[in-house]
Amino acid sequence: MPFGTPPKQLSPGGDFGWLKKTYTWYADVVSPMASSAGDRHGHNISAQDFGFQADSKNASAPGGSYPSSALSCTSCHDPHGTYRRNQDGTISTSGKPIRDSGSYDTSPTPDAQTSVGSYRMLGGTGYVPQGMTGGLAFSFAPPSAVAPSDYNRSEATTLTRVAYGSGFSDWCRNCHTNIHNGTYSFKHPAAGFASGASAGTLDVTMINYYDQYIKTGDLTGSAATAYFSLVPFEIGTQNYSILKSIVTTSPTKGPDLADGSPAVMCLSCHRGHASGWDYGMRWNSKTSQITYNGKYSQESLLYQPYGQGRTEAEALQAYYQTPSLKFDPSQQGLCYKCHATVPQ
Ligand code: HEC
Ligand code: HEC
Ligand code: HEC
Ligand code: HEC
Repeated sequence: MPFGTPPKQLSPGGDFGWLKKTYTWYADVVSPMASSAGDRHGHNISAQDFGFQADSKNASAPGGSYPSSALSCTSCHDPHGTYRRNQDGTISTSGKPIRDSGSYDTSPTPDAQTSVGSYRMLGGTGYVPQGMTGGLAFSFAPPSAVAPSDYNRSEATTLTRVAYGSGFSDWCRNCHTNIHNGTYSFKHPAAGFASGASAGTLDVTMINYYDQYIKTGDLTGSAATAYFSLVPFEIGTQNYSILKSIVTTSPTKGPDLADGSPAVMCLSCHRGHASGWDYGMRWNSKTSQITYNGKYSQESLLYQPYGQGRTEAEALQAYYQTPSLKFDPSQQGLCYKCHATVPQ
């Protein structure tokens, strides 16, 4: 990855190329050099042939025990795609043949003769890659979601909306059992009904606030256009006709109690693969404002407390080409899309 040039892919999961980008900067004249290591930018898949090494800090999944040395594409995706969604909505590893992908708005609906694949061929209950021991087998099902077929695209003018339905937080807890629940790391709810984590649904006040929030200082938004792909939420349903209709007919609508129980989930803040920011975050959570003077980067300046070593091209790509001018010139972090004040 050449200096100053961002990775190319803009898929919802995020480009693993960010793992090869380490940034350093000085925040001010007194502070020591700060850094954001490539390792910290998400899931370090070990793929030696492509120069991807296992994570150098975490020996295992934070809040769980999955070994970092064994983390690869097939830790999460079942290469044989045996997990299937059936006509009655259940997930199984055998039964009716899988007719097609189940990930898209264009995917067929399972019927009496055929099933479709799980979202993105993600592994479900009992999944454990070949060669790993049974104690690491997944406890939770693949999540429910629908992606648009043109999902790998610039968001310079329009958003890419994945209709995240339900089950993402539980699915991530297959490996991160005790994350953000007060025993490990920053405390925050992420609704997961299968794991009994019921906190994290958005109440009416938060839904209204999400709908109104456009950017720092601008609360003039409305429900029909409130969705923001840098701060997605779970719709709170496994009903695929609702999920498909949201992707195709109202791709930008905000959380709606008529569709399900909207909730904050792991992917509200993180990307599934990697991002340009620490901890695979969707935005830079290590700075008090994500724009400065209307720009993401402070590339020509000596001190870069906000730009943090990224070039404008890199930061723009990390925000999926969202123009910096869509934000306030001194835009706060995106926790404020849901919280009027961020609780301490
Ligand atoms: C830690 C679990 C995990 C690992 C490891 C992982 N994936 Fe994914 N992948 C996901 C999730 C979750 C999604 C869905 C992302 C979304 O829709 O927001 C996804 C989505 C995808 C997609 C659809 C496009 C996109 O980015 O949304 C492709 C293709 C893909 N993964 C390929 C890979 C490959 C190739 C590897 C290894 C180099 C890999 N994945 C490793 C969890 C993982
Ligand atoms: C198959 C097990 C597995 C699953 C499933 C999984 N992770 Fe991870 N995750 C790991 C391991 C192992 C690490 C530590 C290695 C690393 O940081 O690269 C990790 C690290 C992380 C980190 C820290 C990254 C960093 O750079 O410090 C975040 C954030 C994270 N996972 C989020 C998620 C989210 C969100 C999901 C669900 C979409 C998820 N994980 C699903 C195994 C998993
Ligand atoms: C409200 C936003 C938010 C949500 C929701 C969220 N995270 Fe995080 N996560 C963060 C932030 C911010 C950090 C960095 C915390 C820090 O600096 O210590 C983080 C850190 C992590 C880490 C790295 C911990 C470490 O010490 O290396 C993992 C793993 C992780 N999150 C997984 C998850 C999983 C799994 C879920 C869902 C069950 C989840 N997160 C939900 C914001 C969130
Ligand atoms: C998608 C919406 C959403 C986003 C984005 C979000 N939160 Fe939350 N947050 C919630 C919900 C829902 C709750 C639980 C209800 C409540 O406390 O109002 C919550 C609760 C909290 C709590 C109280 C946690 C506890 O258990 O005591 C803190 C602290 C918090 N959020 C901080 C943050 C921070 C920091 C960020 C950004 C990194 C963030 N939130 C981003 C939805 C969100």
